[in-house]
Amino acid sequence: MTLRVKVKERLGRKFDEEIRFFKGWMNNTKAVGAIIPTSSVTARRMASVVTPRSSLPVLELGPGTGVITKAILATGLEPDKLVSIEYSTDFYNHLVERFPKVNFINGDAFDLDRSLGEMAGATFDSIISAVPLLNFPMHRRVALIEDLLSRVPAGRPVVQISYGPMSPVVAMPERYRVSHLDFVVRNIPPAQLWTYTRTH
Ligand SMILES: C[S@@+](CC[C@H](N)C(=O)[O-])C[C@H]1O[C@@H](n2cnc3c(N)ncnc32)[C@H](O)[C@@H]1O
Repeated sequence: MTLRVKVKERLGRKFDEEIRFFKGWMNNTKAVGAIIPTSSVTARRMASVVTPRSSLPVLELGPGTGVITKAILATGLEPDKLVSIEYSTDFYNHLVERFPKVNFINGDAFDLDRSLGEMAGATFDSIISAVPLLNFPMHRRVALIEDLLSRVPAGRPVVQISYGPMSPVVAMPERYRVSHLDFVVRNIPPAQLWTYTRTH
C-alpha cells in the first residue's frame, strides 16, 4: 500500500470518528461534553498512569470514539484486561466492532455496581475517565470519585480529563488527594488532566 493511500485511509478513519462523535454530541450534548475527540497526545498522557503488567484489570469510563482506549492498549495492556463503560449505544456498538477483545459495557459510570455486574467486586490497577462531570452537582462528582477510589488499591490513580482551570472534583484532603497531571494544549479545547488518589 502506498503512503498516499495509507494517509488517505487514516484521514478517512479520523473523519469518520469525528462525524460519529459529532452525531453523539448532537444527540446528547450533556453526556458527550467535549466538541472534538480527545487528541492522541492527551490520550497517551492519560494512559501513561497504567501499569500494563500488573495482574489487575484497568477500568475506562466514557471511551467515546476509542482514542483513549487505543492509547491504553498501546501501553501493552492485554485487551481482555481492559473494562470500558460507555453510556451511548451508538459509540458502544462502534467500539465493540473496533476493539473486539476489550470488555466494553453499555452502561452508566454513575451506577457502577449495576454496570459492572459480575465485576462489581473487582479491584482495578487504575481508572481512566473522560466522562463529563461538570453537569453534575459537586456531591455527585465527589461520590463518583470516592466510588472509583474504592475500586483501586491505595495509592493508585483515577485520572479525569476536564477543560476548566480547576479540578472538577473538590479537594477533600482527609479523604483523597487531588493532583494536577498535565495541561495539554494540543487538544481541542485544551485539556486539564487530574489524578485522584486515596490518602488511606
Ligand atoms: C468527552 S466524551 C469522550 C471522548 C473520547 N475520549 C473520545 O475521544 O472520543 C465523553 C464520553 O463519555 C460518555 N459518557 C457520558 N456520560 C457517561 C456515563 N454516565 N457513563 C458512561 N459513559 C458516559 C459519552 O457518551 C462520551 O462518549
